[in-house]
Amino acid sequence: QSPQARIKIDTDRKVGEVHPNMFGNFAEHLGRCIYGGIYEEGSPLSDASGFRKDVMEATKNLGVSLLRWPGGNFASGYNWKDGIGPKDQRPVRPDHAWGDLDSNRFGTDEFLQYCERLGVTPYICINAGYGTVNEAREWVEYVNEARSTYWADQRRKNGRDKPYGVKIWGLGNEIDGPWQLGHKNAEDYSKFALEAAKAMRRVDSSIQLIASGSSNFGPNADWIAWNREILQNLRSEIDYISLHTYIGNRENNFERFLATSQDLDERIEVVAGLIQAAQSGQRNPRPIYIAYDEWNVWYRARGNTEFATGSTRLEEIYNYEDALAMGMFFNSFIRRADVVKMANLAQLVNVIAPIFTNKQGLFLQPIYFPIAEYGKQRNNMSLNALVTSPTYTPAPGRKPLGYLDVSVTHNTKENALYVNVLNRSEKLDIATRLDNVEGAIQSAVGVWTMNYDDLKATHTFGADKKIVPANSTYTAKVEKNGFTYTFPKHSLTILKVKLQ
Ligand code: AHR
Repeated sequence: QSPQARIKIDTDRKVGEVHPNMFGNFAEHLGRCIYGGIYEEGSPLSDASGFRKDVMEATKNLGVSLLRWPGGNFASGYNWKDGIGPKDQRPVRPDHAWGDLDSNRFGTDEFLQYCERLGVTPYICINAGYGTVNEAREWVEYVNEARSTYWADQRRKNGRDKPYGVKIWGLGNEIDGPWQLGHKNAEDYSKFALEAAKAMRRVDSSIQLIASGSSNFGPNADWIAWNREILQNLRSEIDYISLHTYIGNRENNFERFLATSQDLDERIEVVAGLIQAAQSGQRNPRPIYIAYDEWNVWYRARGNTEFATGSTRLEEIYNYEDALAMGMFFNSFIRRADVVKMANLAQLVNVIAPIFTNKQGLFLQPIYFPIAEYGKQRNNMSLNALVTSPTYTPAPGRKPLGYLDVSVTHNTKENALYVNVLNRSEKLDIATRLDNVEGAIQSAVGVWTMNYDDLKATHTFGADKKIVPANSTYTAKVEKNGFTYTFPKHSLTILKVKLQ
């Protein structure tokens, strides 16, 4: 078959390093994410600290680099002081974001110990809703202060002498959203965030700060205006601006669903432009990146599911097409690896998550596998590949886009190219010519692929080996530093092409 598509790769066309934090994750006090997910005291599956060992193992294998906590919407009503000290003396508080009770038995020390045990970077989101600047400042003192001060000594009293050294702090969550506790307009948020940033940096000048960008893409929301104003006001203090995106196949239209990369690409492009605009004309502008600190498929489970056992929420059961969407998200992030320096899947366990537990064990959802595989490309160099492929128009009024959604990275140590290809055609297998502009390639090409007939197929307890990846080697007929490979319809493939 003669090729219908082309991927032309030039290792000199560097975009930026794929930052390890692109494979971050998120654990919120919501439903069974913390309690009954990562933490279950008294369970035979937990260790002495109450951490579920099976979940830790699955998290390690997922390749998680960073963990955001305690929310999400929850953060805007959270008082961190409730979650320290002897567990039996901690107050039970109503959580007004999700309507549950929080026992506070999992707090700052538990979260940071969890991160240390996993070897992941902690990211704490402060309460910019109902909280105060002083509470945020004291939280940094509790966590990072080395000298003998009131809050550092409280930490010592609670069993931790050495400062945790948490570097990444979020200045609140989705503060532009009317659903947010303590929702603010851009001006009021900027004033709060500016003061919080200064106060927190007085305790520890080495911390990095993430401003709450707008994720309110509703028809009457002006997300661009919010981001412009925030960037303008906070540009001297922040290191990142956050973006959140959840997608869903609401119309049961597979190809339209997987065309939502158009929105992702546009949002990244627009915010990159706003960052540039805010920095333009500044002497030594502070570098600012995008933290895509919540992203996933989420639309079915707004309440309970068949697995509900009490206060369970957002327990999305993922199918094969959702797994393909993971590739789409990562391709968009990797294509702009110069500006997207963090991305956190929302969330880790049970709540819109790749890992799903009950009291007896867990199962891995189909979305688990692409996340784990893309994570191996951390620190690779993203390349700007030229891609041509048959196109389609996902919906009236939308721009046409290629069936092949592609990103490419270069691992210089292995001298190998990783070619990530989502074929979002429901019907077409697409024969594609891959060319490496300069330099010979080896004929043995590694192939990782997910390809399943039933787009709606799901996993459950005791049955999570169905929608899984396959690994093989393809012997390419190499001519003029290129070869042809056929990407099957509705599949996700990562080719590992070794250079000579
Ligand atoms: O991840 C679930 C919720 O989605 C988070 O709490 C909030 O930030 C977002 O709206």
